[in-house]
Amino acid sequence: MANDSLFDVTDKCVALTGGAGVLCGAMAKALAGRGAKVAVLDIMDDAAAALCKQIAATGGTAFPVHCNVLEKTSVEKALAETVSSLGRADVLVNGAGGNKKQATCTPPVEFFDLPDDALRAVFDLNCLGTMLPSQVFGRHFARRGDGVIVNMSSMSAFRPLTNVGAYSAAKAAVSNFTRWLAVYMAQRHSPKIRVNAIAPGFFLTEQNRFLLTDENTGELTPRGEQILAHTPAARFGQPEELVGTLVWLISDAANFVNGTVVPVDGGFDAYAGV
Ligand SMILES: NC(=O)c1ccc[n+]([C@@H]2O[C@H](COP(=O)([O-])OP(=O)(O)OC[C@H]3O[C@@H](n4cnc5c(N)ncnc54)[C@H](O)[C@@H]3O)[C@@H](O)[C@H]2O)c1
Repeated sequence: MANDSLFDVTDKCVALTGGAGVLCGAMAKALAGRGAKVAVLDIMDDAAAALCKQIAATGGTAFPVHCNVLEKTSVEKALAETVSSLGRADVLVNGAGGNKKQATCTPPVEFFDLPDDALRAVFDLNCLGTMLPSQVFGRHFARRGDGVIVNMSSMSAFRPLTNVGAYSAAKAAVSNFTRWLAVYMAQRHSPKIRVNAIAPGFFLTEQNRFLLTDENTGELTPRGEQILAHTPAARFGQPEELVGTLVWLISDAANFVNGTVVPVDGGFDAYAGV
């Protein structure tokens, strides 16, 4: 059907960095379920292998590929392995990223005292960890004359969230870089190369569980309660709820969508709190 082919991802070859994580793992499974071929690029080899085994068991095509997004040679090897496993690379999802407890100034911790190595780690993982794979896969897409990059931004890029200054600044950089790279790739290489970002709202995952729920009781922290009070949907998102936006962005349905950052947030960004 014409309408279905608009969102068709069959046989698209998709590399996801951080693909063994919660959000990109759900994306990898869903894409494979829709007939895409996925390469799970992650620093956690066992988790990537386990996910690919799970995908293969349901009839999907998925390969684990070792990749450290902070080392360009590692990303170059990962691209070569992706192409040899899948036959091509059509799409890069820059999903590796996250926050660190040591770079978070939950009271009474002061921002002034946060160790510089923790700040650097968070900034590098999110910002440089998006730029380096974009260089490597971007060159590949430039040579082919087409390709799609989807970055992972965050609500904290639009309006910085309390206590997570390094993460907020790094995600603001990811959103800014998304728009910059969209223009660069289209003007310097091919208007068929598109770069967009998804800005997820709040999804309860391992990297934010310590902020949103109490370690001992599992109850919401005051921060978790405030987030839900500011989310018109009144709940956290489910990782699978990012899939529709991803499928849209990488399919022909989004052929004229470039340089955007799409919130998937249950309305958090729209709500002023009044
Ligand atoms: N969870 C949320 O609510 C939320 C909200 C907004 C944005 N995000 C963003 O979405 C993305 C995925 O988040 P998640 O919650 O699934 O995180 P996650 O921690 O479950 O997954 C991150 C993955 O990245 C991998 N990784 C870490 N360092 C790496 C490196 N140097 N090289 C390669 N892989 C590396 C990890 O092994 C892990 O598999 C991140 O960019 C995150 O900042 C998450």
